[in-house]
Amino acid sequence: MVDQHNNGKGKWKQLLAQVQKNELPRHIAVIMDGNGRWAKKRGLPRIAGHRSGMQSLKNMISFSHELGIQVITLFAFSTENWKRPRWEVDFLMRLPEEYLQKELPALIEKNTVIQAMGDLSQLPESTLAAVENAITETRHNTGMVLNFALNYGGRADILQAVRNLCREAKEGQLDCREIDEALFSRYLCSRDLPDPDLLIRPSGEFRISNFLLWQMAYTEFWFSQVLWPDFDREHLLQAILDYQNRERRFGGIKNT
Ligand code: FPP
Repeated sequence: MVDQHNNGKGKWKQLLAQVQKNELPRHIAVIMDGNGRWAKKRGLPRIAGHRSGMQSLKNMISFSHELGIQVITLFAFSTENWKRPRWEVDFLMRLPEEYLQKELPALIEKNTVIQAMGDLSQLPESTLAAVENAITETRHNTGMVLNFALNYGGRADILQAVRNLCREAKEGQLDCREIDEALFSRYLCSRDLPDPDLLIRPSGEFRISNFLLWQMAYTEFWFSQVLWPDFDREHLLQAILDYQNRERRFGGIKNT
């Protein structure tokens, strides 16, 4: 089955053989960074980098399906990305629509659940319609969750949770003493999703850029110099293998 991805190099097969299938990260979060630099290196416009990044995304999703990853959260547009030139923002906003138009039938076929998080009210109408349609069409599926962070910011996420908790407390629907980590988590945009086990950030940047701040308290980080459009299944497998070689203690001590 995985043979359809064989690029003739074969290294990925060696990596795949080393992966422990029962120890896969349940939830992988991805900051798809480096599209602009990828394009610049080739003398291409930035949008060519984003388009190529979309192809990388398709490949990653397809391979993740085969591996059996349960949740992928993709940082597709941050609350800070509005600062980019208008033409780039417009292009980035059209990408989810284009992606879903082309890929939704195949995603449905694979039993994928599409979700989105962030302040979706600010998205252009057609982007929002495409995303809402995909969510509706896949809401009864039971397979991999593909969660798009769109107009998402970790701090904004925490603030909207606090505001909603305050409102409910004021209206008498909530006793503040009941607020614990599990309850707070359910007020975040990620709601019932498990926290990410693994964060993948390519492009040589070593920061989390306001992504999933609360949810990544114990996430393992995987950074790489590779630019997102060049990210392939070898990188994904390497990230998973590195993750599997880490010792996750969650603040405890090593089991002896
Ligand atoms: C960051 O690279 C990338 C983004 C802000 C957009 C990521 C979007 C995609 C890869 C396409 C997503 C497709 C769908 C379907 C949502 P950058 O532009 O900051 O790169 P640079 O740092 O090299 O300039």
